[in-house]
Amino acid sequence: MLDRFQRKITRLRISVTDLCNLYCVYCKPPQGVHQMPRKEILSFEEIAFVARCATRLGVRSFRLTGGEPLTRRNIESLIASLSEIPGVEDLAMTTNGVALKQHARAIKDAGLRRINISLDSLGEDRFRRITGGGNVRDVLEGIEAAVDAGFEQTKVNMVVIRGTNDDEIEAFARLTLDRPLEVRFIEYMAFGCRMVEEEKFVSSKEVVERIGRLGNLEVVDVDGKRGGEGKTPGLSGPRVSLRGPAKLYRLEGARGVLGLISPVSQPFCGDCNRLRLTSEGKLRACLLAGGEVDIKSILRSKDHAADVTNGRSNPALEQEIRDVFIKVSHMKPKVHSGRGEPVMCQIGG
Ligand code: 5AD
Repeated sequence: MLDRFQRKITRLRISVTDLCNLYCVYCKPPQGVHQMPRKEILSFEEIAFVARCATRLGVRSFRLTGGEPLTRRNIESLIASLSEIPGVEDLAMTTNGVALKQHARAIKDAGLRRINISLDSLGEDRFRRITGGGNVRDVLEGIEAAVDAGFEQTKVNMVVIRGTNDDEIEAFARLTLDRPLEVRFIEYMAFGCRMVEEEKFVSSKEVVERIGRLGNLEVVDVDGKRGGEGKTPGLSGPRVSLRGPAKLYRLEGARGVLGLISPVSQPFCGDCNRLRLTSEGKLRACLLAGGEVDIKSILRSKDHAADVTNGRSNPALEQEIRDVFIKVSHMKPKVHSGRGEPVMCQIGG
């Protein structure tokens, strides 16, 4: 599946719930979020049906997001059914890590390959403040649990915000010295109502300069990941188009690597290879721009609903869903404005 700008669409981000067990300052709209009625959220059968159609169009990689995906009951069973779909080369999750310790083993066993953990502060009080009451120890234990469970290259995502956590850049970088982690620094994006926050922005360039003072920084190439760490054994196929937008570095002698993600200073729209499925069943072209099409109403139409629920083949429906994918991929803008309306907590980054 190619979009209008010849970008190959190989990834689908699937938001499995709009609920979250944290309440992060930059994630929530000031007017508050109202929870969607449960019946509006796609069932696992519906998600798996859409995922199967997507693989027929060349989607090779799924990432589960939220809300917080681990708050969705029995998430392992969704992981298991996605991992069984022929053609799936990568299956990942972005989580806040709060409940990861309890789930790490089960989701690994179910077939999840990779985990990204969002963590914006290592300090107990500060973490509690940023997340509206979270306990950083839960997340740190979750990270250890992910490493112990043997996920391929566990990633820690820090959104760098000046005056909030930028004094922890070095401490986050040091996490890679003795752990096989990829610690990634993400440029803070201004969303919707949070537009007037330019003074909080820290560029990746500044982050690299600061990390560079800790020791020699070597550039790690896309596949090289020197030392073999982070290679994803067993994965085959179009490696480059499955790669994410991070630029990678390594502190000399470190076990892990550092990633810089620069959506603001170096927008990576030109390499964008993803679509997004929202928890209430809309296929979305872009995080920040572009349109969306409701898939749920197609899945739930009276001619189709029973086949979806029972996982039965239904060529007419499959064709309809594939047509939606093509239509939405054609809605992808060449570049987005870097600012947008969406509520991050409902799309999952
Ligand atoms: N800018 C950059 N990253 C963000 N995330 C959430 N809000 C923003 C923002 N305004 C990140 C989260 C998480 C992922 C889902 O998106 O920290 O890592």
